[in-house]
Amino acid sequence: MERTSIEETIKNIGKKVRVCGWVHSRRDHGKIIFIDLRDRSGLLQVVFQPEAGHPRGDTLYDLAQDIRSEWVIFVEGTISKRPDKLINPKLVTGKIELKAENLEIFNKAETPPFAIDTDGYEIGEDRRLEYRYLDIRRKRIKDNLILRHKVIHFIRNFLTDRGFIEIETPILTKSTPEGARDYVVPSRTHQGDFYALPQSPQQYKQLLMVAGMEKYFQIARCFRDEDTRGDRQPEFTQLDLEMSFPTQDEILSLIEELYIKIVKTLTPEKHISEIPFPRLGYNKVMEKYKTDKPDLRKDKKDKNELAFAWIIDWPLFEWNKDEKRWDPMHHVFTAPKDEDIPLLDKDPSKVHSWQHDLVLNGNEAGGGSIRIHKSEIQEKVFKLVGLKEEEIKTKFGHLLHAFGFGAPPHGGIASGIDRLVMILANEPNIREVIAFPKTGDGRDLMMNAPSKVDNKQLKDLGLKFGK
Ligand code: AMO
Repeated sequence: MERTSIEETIKNIGKKVRVCGWVHSRRDHGKIIFIDLRDRSGLLQVVFQPEAGHPRGDTLYDLAQDIRSEWVIFVEGTISKRPDKLINPKLVTGKIELKAENLEIFNKAETPPFAIDTDGYEIGEDRRLEYRYLDIRRKRIKDNLILRHKVIHFIRNFLTDRGFIEIETPILTKSTPEGARDYVVPSRTHQGDFYALPQSPQQYKQLLMVAGMEKYFQIARCFRDEDTRGDRQPEFTQLDLEMSFPTQDEILSLIEELYIKIVKTLTPEKHISEIPFPRLGYNKVMEKYKTDKPDLRKDKKDKNELAFAWIIDWPLFEWNKDEKRWDPMHHVFTAPKDEDIPLLDKDPSKVHSWQHDLVLNGNEAGGGSIRIHKSEIQEKVFKLVGLKEEEIKTKFGHLLHAFGFGAPPHGGIASGIDRLVMILANEPNIREVIAFPKTGDGRDLMMNAPSKVDNKQLKDLGLKFGK
């Protein structure tokens, strides 16, 4: 007989089942022992009763007396209806229980360092992260990870149905500027040279358009060495997407349809304040809200309201007083509006771009643009942001070269998966929806990373540390 998952046991009244899982709690009522058994799908009440006339010591009931929380067990028995007064309306399995006929203990467990049957907000986060494998046993975190899976699964199906191809791009790569510091990885075979972990797959996805893939997406891990906050992790996940020959409207409409469908399907208790999502000009938004990610909820106390909006018509640059150069508002690959191209030489401050940002309840939920696809314009923008001829060649020569082989007009967007799931799950920060997040100072407390490497590894890499 196969194992039955706990949520399936309700279909088995009167039948024999085998269930496996963790002991969530145990109540000893003298003559009867109740165990709440937990597996990923839920909780089930298991009942152990002494057998009349049996000597103490070797019965199931005796064995059950030793069992403690978080032990891993197997129970075989018959599913029966609970007496009416013992029905628990809060549990899917609240109308049934399992009368134990056989028990096996797979593994005992130490007493966990914190409670697992609460929502966990009351526990110090460092402790939770150190024992994340126990913290994930908590229903709230488990449910968050399941919601995250459903969101990603939905995205994959939605985009596949619309002709997008998911393509993986390298993690060991070369710097792509997105405004943060790079994580660098020393090369052993080319001592003194370094890979950079991608801040985003931006250049690769543009090169995939040159390669003729037309519609690309990826659930992409990105790495940015910047200060960690509630909505920021050093490594995080984007839905990254790029299309050839799109209008900006096509990109926005596609993402909008995807997000509306995700909400309706996976979190139907939530309501979207305005459909279609309002499209607001950057200047007006800054004037009215003094921020480029306004919280447009009508009722900020309503945890089920989702106020999406697009911010469009961005300036291409902002002036960097300290460095005395133009910084891109988005990134260097964003295209200026056609009619503003002559202004690149005359007055860069007046150039508008094809950038689009998606905001959600005051969070930056996504960002993208129509890209530059002509090398002359790309070179001009590189120079305006202060790159020297030589730097342009070493950092971006490959891209300019590729544009010389027939680059299609293209554009796309990346949206933050962690931030979306955080908001859908009503969580206060993205750590709650990431299986193994880093702390505020970038540590993995469970694995104890970053950590020292041994001298042999350093020697192989040709690295030496100064004092
Ligand atoms: P951008 O840098 O705006 O654009 O990033 C896109 C989206 O990713 C999310 N995000 C983050 N989430 C968690 N932690 C972080 N540290 C973090 N940084 C960004 C945000 C943001 O809106 N290559 C471009 C996209 C493009 O042009 O297509 C890019 O990465 O939700």
